[in-house]
Amino acid sequence: MLRKLNYELDYDIYDEYDDGNDMEASVGKLPLLDKPTGKPGFWHCSICTNNNDESLLSCDTCGVFRDSTGIIDNDSGEKVYGKSKDSRASVMARSLFALSPHQMPKPAVISDIFLAKEAVKSHEKGCIEAYFNDLQKTFTSPHCNHSINIAPFKFDTPSPDDIVSSGKNAARNFPKVPLGSTKASSNITGKKEIVNLLPVNEVSNSSSASSSKDNHIDVSESSNSRDYEDAPQIIADDLHRLKLDKNSKDNRSKKASRNVQYKPEKWMLSDQEQGISSQLNLAVVGHVDSGKSTLCGRLLHLLGRISKKQMHKNEKEAKEKGKGSFAYAWAMDESAEERQRGITMTVAVAYFDSKKFRVVLLDSPGHKDFVPNMISGATQADAAVLVVDASVGSFEAGMGGNSVGQTKEHAQLIRSFGVEQIIVAVNKMDLVEFSKERFDFIKLQLGLFLCSCKFKESSVAWIPLSAMENQNLVTTASDVRLSSWYQGFCLLDAIDSLKPPQRDVSKPLLLPICDVVISHFVGQVAVCGKLEFGALRASSKVLVMPSGDLATVQTIQRDYCPCTIAKAGDNVAVSLQGIDAGHVMPGGVLCHPDLPVTVASSLELKILVLDIVTPILVGSQVEIHIHHAKEAARVTKILSLLDQKSGKVSRNAPRILTARQSAIIEVALDGTVCVEEFSVCRALGRAFLRASGSTIAVGIVTRVLEQGS
Ligand code: GTP
Ligand code: MG
Repeated sequence: MLRKLNYELDYDIYDEYDDGNDMEASVGKLPLLDKPTGKPGFWHCSICTNNNDESLLSCDTCGVFRDSTGIIDNDSGEKVYGKSKDSRASVMARSLFALSPHQMPKPAVISDIFLAKEAVKSHEKGCIEAYFNDLQKTFTSPHCNHSINIAPFKFDTPSPDDIVSSGKNAARNFPKVPLGSTKASSNITGKKEIVNLLPVNEVSNSSSASSSKDNHIDVSESSNSRDYEDAPQIIADDLHRLKLDKNSKDNRSKKASRNVQYKPEKWMLSDQEQGISSQLNLAVVGHVDSGKSTLCGRLLHLLGRISKKQMHKNEKEAKEKGKGSFAYAWAMDESAEERQRGITMTVAVAYFDSKKFRVVLLDSPGHKDFVPNMISGATQADAAVLVVDASVGSFEAGMGGNSVGQTKEHAQLIRSFGVEQIIVAVNKMDLVEFSKERFDFIKLQLGLFLCSCKFKESSVAWIPLSAMENQNLVTTASDVRLSSWYQGFCLLDAIDSLKPPQRDVSKPLLLPICDVVISHFVGQVAVCGKLEFGALRASSKVLVMPSGDLATVQTIQRDYCPCTIAKAGDNVAVSLQGIDAGHVMPGGVLCHPDLPVTVASSLELKILVLDIVTPILVGSQVEIHIHHAKEAARVTKILSLLDQKSGKVSRNAPRILTARQSAIIEVALDGTVCVEEFSVCRALGRAFLRASGSTIAVGIVTRVLEQGS
């Protein structure tokens, strides 16, 4: 759930600025992460407000490092604050972004508080403002978009090695609105609506992105800042609210197996758009604060995707807000709430061209609260950049000690989505003096874990870098402390060395809907998402599930540009004609008119239980995520426990499931979801279960037990 902003807390932060405290010490994302709590022996997390025991280095609730400026003395294990003042932003970085007290005048403080209040109000009013920000992102940003995701896991073979999956994509392009102005708001269903409000030229651009291999799974979520805990219910409500007319039911009842012989049309197979390099959906994941957004922003800036003017504006505004070191991150974190809190909340999507790929960057949130969003973006991924913070204590926090830190959870999820290729960006090397020993230590520790997640050693690239100091991003490092011992790929070259993802255009159309954009003004509805299979062109007839309504494709946009044909792997925005906007929803699927996907209300799953503390029992309430759909569900049966190695049934009807066990279970959904058995369609056959804000299991759909209506 999105936490309401705490006025007092934020006000206190700025009070400290006003009190003339060292501004440079405050430069950075978490100026007062470990605020005094008033309780001796505790420190207060300003991200999630939890009171943590003094002995903890990172917040027990959200995992945010207490104060990454602190350096742990290796011998004593104690925190040394000597270097703390410049640890978040290095000397060079601070020279770019550092603030001086007089640059933090009261008005800036007031404006921040105003923003915070507005953000809170927005929540209370149903996130109107937050949605507005999202829509602004969607329609006005040349770089970014949001989306959301979920993760899968495969058990075709006996052991967890068999986990195979793929990602998917979300797109948010929407045809330029020709007239009038728009303001975005979201209705309760989470669909974005465009209301006439803004000047025409502010309306035009939308964005979105993503795509993935044939074995991907999608998840959904709209790129907005609404209450994520409410999201499943909202989507469930959407599903229930859909009134299916006779025609819809007829279409549904035409349900045929997607395995039936299907012959793609000629135009689908033709290479009309030759010359366009293949799209690579690259999820950027990792622990909160590891520098993902800064890395993406810096990369885009270096590649000319962010204008000098825009960058200058970001620098200026970030400085004014006392968050100078976030200037690059702000290229991705566009909403007022994200900027205010200094964390990414939804997946931002941006594009750049490398030598080999049209890269779709999916900058994911690292904060624990936003894992569902991370999932929605990452399920679209063909490959991933796992960003880790090299600084002492932060890397350890990401690994989570005995528990699962976000570095581990993200790596696990990304693998379960079927992502096999991963680049580990060991960031903030400037904070450890570009130490080879530290890099080797991280490589060893994390390498072992990645191995246990079944990443092949040959598919993992390790790149030491500093996003802030521009070391090893698009060219080899210039800092001799790094170049003296590292002569391998820079990040951009590592991206180009990835294997191009496979696409399947010969299968019938399948486009899981990540996001829906409604323009009341022009009476249009557009869906965004990644084409998993098949191809689309203007005038194609599509079946919109679960409503079962037929619609006609009017326009298609890919990477913000209109295109004639979209094919498997492309992240697109498709505007539809001839359909009631109320019958289109995130979590739905566009499919071939004769081959509707299954709409299920009860499923049999093969799962791998993650590192959970509370066992899974019959009756356990969970949240099931399948591509972009989320639904509340209940475990109704635990059929069997599987042997990890052989995959054979080792015990029938166990009473409970604990960490690291594989099992076959049955779940009853509160509503319905569009789904396929994994053997029929991998993209719609991966599922993961969450409870109490954590992912508790990943798995695949082995059987649809009951179809919904
Ligand atoms: P979430 O999206 O909230 O998970 O955070 P993130 O991983 O996107 O981190 P973000 O880019 O917001 O950066 C967090 C802080 O780390 C900011 O203060 C950045 O300036 C700082 N940072 C990022 N990269 C570097 C780096 O290479 N060196 C140093 N010293 N600081 C960095
Ligand atoms: Mg971020």
